[in-house]
Amino acid sequence: MSPRSSITVLAALAGLASFSAQAQPTLFERIGGEAKMHAVVEDFVDVMQADDRINFTFAETDLKKFKQLLYEQLCNLTQGPCRYTGRDMRTAHAKLNINDAMFNALAEDLYVAFERQHVPYHLQNKVVAMLAPMQRDVVKPRSQRTNTGPPR
Ligand code: HEM
Repeated sequence: MSPRSSITVLAALAGLASFSAQAQPTLFERIGGEAKMHAVVEDFVDVMQADDRINFTFAETDLKKFKQLLYEQLCNLTQGPCRYTGRDMRTAHAKLNINDAMFNALAEDLYVAFERQHVPYHLQNKVVAMLAPMQRDVVKPRSQRTNTGPPR
């Protein structure tokens, strides 16, 4: 192969590589982008507020701010164009006495929100799989909990 034609082949390969890099959408894009993720967060908060297993933990929370931070976090985790500006998960949940059942309840509510927004199930699972490792930071060890469950 002449030097010239090998350069042509290399240039074509480089073009293909950048095409395939661009053609690969992020999980954020596959879910439906900004508007869809905001809608999921809105629906999630509605579902969570109707869920007596966990709604009491949000009694003192500024929900507008929470929605913004949850959006940023989900956007960032799914390779969207966002920076998460909230606290780390351990600090944010430290005083909330969250147990495993409450963690699972929140994950279920998130699935309901994704379902309401018609996000395909295999994409829902990808997001929840990214959240699963946070369980150890969100859930408080039993020995450190000061109470469990909703106030009676
Ligand atoms: C992987 C699971 C979870 C994620 C990704 C998540 C995400 C977040 C984010 C981004 C914030 C805002 C942080 C900040 O204020 O700087 C937050 C706060 C909060 N989360 Fe979670 N969370 C999770 C699990 C839970 C669970 C299981 C509960 C309760 C059942 C819960 C209750 C709360 C409450 C009440 C706040 C507000 C705290 C405050 O007002 O100071 N979270 N969470």
